[in-house]
Order: sequence, then C-alpha cells, then structure tokens
Amino acid sequence: MLSYRHGFHAGNHADVLKHCVLISALDYMQQKITPFVYIDTHSGAGMYSLQDEWAEKTREHETGITKLWQRSVSDMPLAVQAYLKKIHELNPDGELSQYPGSPWIAESMLRRHDRARLFELHVNEYENLHELFASNKRFKTEQRDGFQGLNEVMPPIERRAVTLIDPSYEVKTDYQTVVQSVKAAHKKFNAGVFIIWYPVINRKQIDQFEQDFISSGMKNILLAELSLYPDTDHAGMTGSGLVVVNPPWTLAKSLELTLPYLQEELAEGKGDWRIRQLVAE
Ligand SMILES: C[S@@+](CC[C@H](N)C(=O)[O-])C[C@H]1O[C@@H](n2cnc3c(N)ncnc32)[C@H](O)[C@@H]1O
Repeated sequence: MLSYRHGFHAGNHADVLKHCVLISALDYMQQKITPFVYIDTHSGAGMYSLQDEWAEKTREHETGITKLWQRSVSDMPLAVQAYLKKIHELNPDGELSQYPGSPWIAESMLRRHDRARLFELHVNEYENLHELFASNKRFKTEQRDGFQGLNEVMPPIERRAVTLIDPSYEVKTDYQTVVQSVKAAHKKFNAGVFIIWYPVINRKQIDQFEQDFISSGMKNILLAELSLYPDTDHAGMTGSGLVVVNPPWTLAKSLELTLPYLQEELAEGKGDWRIRQLVAE
C-alpha cells in the first residue's frame, strides 16, 4: 500500500529544482506552434496548502520555495525567474500559502491545442487531482499505474511530448522500473522529452541508476543534481536530481546558471551541484 503523500514535501528544494526544469521544458515546447502532449506518470494531488497540518509538521518548504519567495528577481537566472513568477501567479495577494503540483504548472502553460494525460495511483491524491481538472477536457486524469499508462499512450498522435516521471521511490524496484519504462516508451517514440526525478539518498544506488541509463541504448541523456548536504547513507534525502532524455538544447546552458544559484540560495553555499552528459546526442 502506498503511504507517500506529497503534501508533506511540497515546495521543498527538490520541488524547486524539478519545477524549474519542467517549466523550462514546457516553455521550450511552445517555440513551435504544433501541438504537444504532457504526460505526468506520478501526478500527485495537483495542488498543496503550505499552511495545513502536513506542511506545518515538516516545514520542508523552508528548504525550497520559502527561501526564494521574497528574493529580488532581477539577479536570478531566467529559469528561476520563470518559476518564481508561476508561484506568485498562484499566490497573487503576496502571501505564500499554496504550492502547485506539476499538473497545475502544466495546465498554466499548455495552449488550447495541447493536452495532458495525468496518472496517479493513490486513491486520496487521485480524488483531489480529479476534482482539480474535472472541468478541463484536455486534461485526462486516471487512477492507475503511471508506468503502464506511459507505455499505452506512446507514441502520441502529436509526435511531440514531454513526460515527467516523478515516483516517490517507496517501492525500491522503482529505480529499475523507471529505466525499463523510459526505455520501452523511447522505443515507441524516440523523439520525446523524458524528465525523470530521483532523490539523493544512497550514492551507490544513484551510480547504478546512471549506469543503467548509460547502457540503455538511448542517446542524448543529461543529468542535473543539486544537493543541500554532503552524501551520507544515514540522513535521508540530502539532495535530488533529474535525468533528462532528449533535453531541450538550451537546458544544459541554463542549468549552469540555475544550479549554482540554487546552491547559493537553498544550501546557503554548502552542498553541491553537478551536470553530466550521460550519453551524447
Ligand atoms: C513525488 S509525488 C508526485 C509529485 C508531482 N509530480 C509534482 O511534482 O507535483 C509521487 C506520486 O506518485 C504516486 N504514485 C506512486 N506510485 C505510482 C504509480 N506506480 N503510478 C502512479 N502514481 C504513483 C504517489 O501516490 C504520489 O502521489
């Protein structure tokens, strides 16, 4: 049974990194007028309160969005500016009370001719997600396994797609399932952009994860990681990263500005960041 609830973690440093990259990718897709589909294999609830008892209990947003909320946008990299603009759009009265999930971010960016497929397995998270998008016919929500869902929606009729794969890794085999699932989807549609999130908990596991992508046969794979603390096997999540298959060609350059900025602001100069081209184009 799944017990992970994203409401305890919404707006933390990992969400900041993931959502900055998601916004950059969706922005890039809009450079062409032709439609695309957004696929979210692990959607979560779609929207979170930063003032409810879950957020109050962990206060994880204080490692992420809360640190950026009052910062001046003028000295921020463009990707962080675009991200912060979105969070301000959601909190127009100037008080940071709500944090968007990836499906809400997508809805705020997709055009009238784009569409989305959203998968979520947890019954309560799904109810919230479903309610949030009930009136949007272009956003189809389904309570089911996102890995299977991804396989079935590939290849998309538009021949243009951004897929976010954002598991909680509660199921330890998720690391292997993620790679297998992206490989299978890529086999059906090798031009898709696939953004895969992972936590930095155990460095050996990440080394293996990277190796599995490197030997997957897929080309053009980028990795970006931001850690708030040095690696350790005893302290839970110390950072997070993204593996991006077919990244927008502008992404690596933009991350070279975004990651050091986030390290300075979120890790207060401690921690670390890295970008690695796992497989060349
Ligand atoms: C990290 S949260 C998603 C957060 C969301 N992508 C965002 O950025 O706002 C992961 C979600 O995946 C769900 N989940 C876990 N296993 C799943 C599966 N096999 N298929 C679909 N959803 C799953 C969990 O219930 C949880 O809500």
